[in-house]
Amino acid sequence: MRFDILTIFPGMFDSYCNESMVKRARAKKIIDIHIHDIRKFSTERHGKVDAIPYGGGPGMVMTPQPLYDAIMHAKTLNKGPVIYLSPRGKLLTHKKAQKLAQSKKNSKQKPGLILVCGRYEGIDQRVIDLCVDEELSIGKYVLTGGELAALVVLDAVSRFVPDFIGKHESTVEESYSEALGGKKEYPHYTRPALFMNLEVPEVLQSGHHAKIKEWRKNKLT
Ligand code: ADE
Repeated sequence: MRFDILTIFPGMFDSYCNESMVKRARAKKIIDIHIHDIRKFSTERHGKVDAIPYGGGPGMVMTPQPLYDAIMHAKTLNKGPVIYLSPRGKLLTHKKAQKLAQSKKNSKQKPGLILVCGRYEGIDQRVIDLCVDEELSIGKYVLTGGELAALVVLDAVSRFVPDFIGKHESTVEESYSEALGGKKEYPHYTRPALFMNLEVPEVLQSGHHAKIKEWRKNKLT
């Protein structure tokens, strides 16, 4: 799967995209991440990308030209939908992440997503009207920009890309999955059996598979 991420802070993606599971998946070409600096597309002096809002009000708004050109460039590289991260968007869910992992226009293409990160008070509405397919929010709170939200989408979606997760872990039986009826998973325990006077539930130590299954089922919330 290919991700093209548009931002004015490309450095923010360096550490997350070069560690752990994401690093491994990139090395194995399971996912492909391309970060684009919106500022480089600005035709104004010093790469200006913002201006005061029409109608007045606090803060700045991202101007349409650099964003529009950056999105058009990304669209030549990635045939997936253009997603703008915004607190006004639809809330990201387990199901939505699963669906996005299959984003492609036809069966011959590999899945892809173009993630647009805004800053300041937001982006000019005309960019949304012209070239955004979907607005997505990661929660009912406001972040200082879309970068963290884009990383959350990248992570949540990548987990559903075939081979991203190892054989021993799985997205089949986890919190919010269909297999668990959309419920949250049971609690986990590991060694030692006694820690700070708290014991691992006896049934889990018993090795009785049917009873463990029943206990876990009862612990779903
Ligand atoms: N940008 C700012 N706040 C956001 C949120 N809650 N979700 C997605 N993008 C955002």
